[in-house]
Amino acid sequence: MKTFYTNAKIFRNGRFEPGLIAVEGGRIAAAGEPRPGDRVVDLGGRHLVPGLVDVHVHLREPGFPQKETIATGTAAAARGGYTTVCSMPNLNPAPDTPATLGEQLEIIRRDAVVRVKPYGTITMGQRGCGELVDFAALAPQVVGFSDDGRGVQSAAVMAKAFAVCSQRGLTLMSHAEDMDVSPWDYRLAENLETVRNLHLCGYYGARLHLCHVSTKEAVEAVQQAKWAGAPVTCEVTPHHLWFTRDTLDYRVNPPLREAADVEALVEGIRLGVVDAIATDHAPHTAGEKAAGAAGMVGLETAFAVCYTKLCVQQGLPLARLQELMSTAPAAILGLENKGGLAPGMDADLVLVDLHARWTVDAARLHSKSKNSPYHGQELRGQ
Ligand code: DOR
Repeated sequence: MKTFYTNAKIFRNGRFEPGLIAVEGGRIAAAGEPRPGDRVVDLGGRHLVPGLVDVHVHLREPGFPQKETIATGTAAAARGGYTTVCSMPNLNPAPDTPATLGEQLEIIRRDAVVRVKPYGTITMGQRGCGELVDFAALAPQVVGFSDDGRGVQSAAVMAKAFAVCSQRGLTLMSHAEDMDVSPWDYRLAENLETVRNLHLCGYYGARLHLCHVSTKEAVEAVQQAKWAGAPVTCEVTPHHLWFTRDTLDYRVNPPLREAADVEALVEGIRLGVVDAIATDHAPHTAGEKAAGAAGMVGLETAFAVCYTKLCVQQGLPLARLQELMSTAPAAILGLENKGGLAPGMDADLVLVDLHARWTVDAARLHSKSKNSPYHGQELRGQ
């Protein structure tokens, strides 16, 4: 039995076309004509798009289930339109060996309601220095390597990581923060480590993805590295596009920046210097947040925040937003390209109502933690 989704605007190969799509057994099927017994669902002219892909989420399991679990985090992802999320390794135990990674994979198999692809750590115990992980041993089961939450502080250790990853075609994720510098100048801390990692990327030719780029200097540095041919990609977060330190006082790493930085991020999106939008979904309990934990939940608000900011306010085409939130992040990590929506592909589809106006109510989020500074904000698109 097929299900026909009719009367939709369907995103295929970079643009929207009116039409229908057929799904059978969880996969996109050749359309043809509905037959007796098939189900027909009228989508009322709404947009049907390939599921969003988030290359940067914190699902907190194993280790911190009071903040989030694979079950609640992936429920939040599904509600936000994500069909694939990539989980950062600041966990307990940190996924630094196949055995510790296995604990996470087991929970994912048991509880995840969307596809979850984990990262391995770069350093043992995610200490940011000391011993590197066995990249080859972890590679078959991870999408990349990251010490997110802290930068790899030792330049020598990061250089060795680049050397290994360049030989094996693996991707390194950079949380750019010089932690000796960040206590007194977080801007300099991001810029210094960004430039160091970009240099190593060009020098070794290993794939680098820069997480949560937030300063105009970092955007410029990425642009120059791309011009020079370095195999680098980068992401920005919805919150660094939406807030500035003047509009919101909220602890997050990297911190909220200045209006000029937001302009640089938007310009970076227009110019293609910025490849992707990723949430850095970082759940914390109310108590942990009150005690100074950095970060905010973001999976359930990301699309609406970005649609409102970039498309409604800045005139960015919806097709470009779709690329930033789905096809480009999938490409960065070598995941299946959903852009074609061709028969045989997993039916990772999301229905988007661009006319919806809604007000964020943190209490109603599916995420276990409610640390959303968008609470009370009216947004467009759902
Ligand atoms: O604000 C943040 N929170 N930034 C990070 O890089 C890590 C994250 C977390 O794990 O809570």
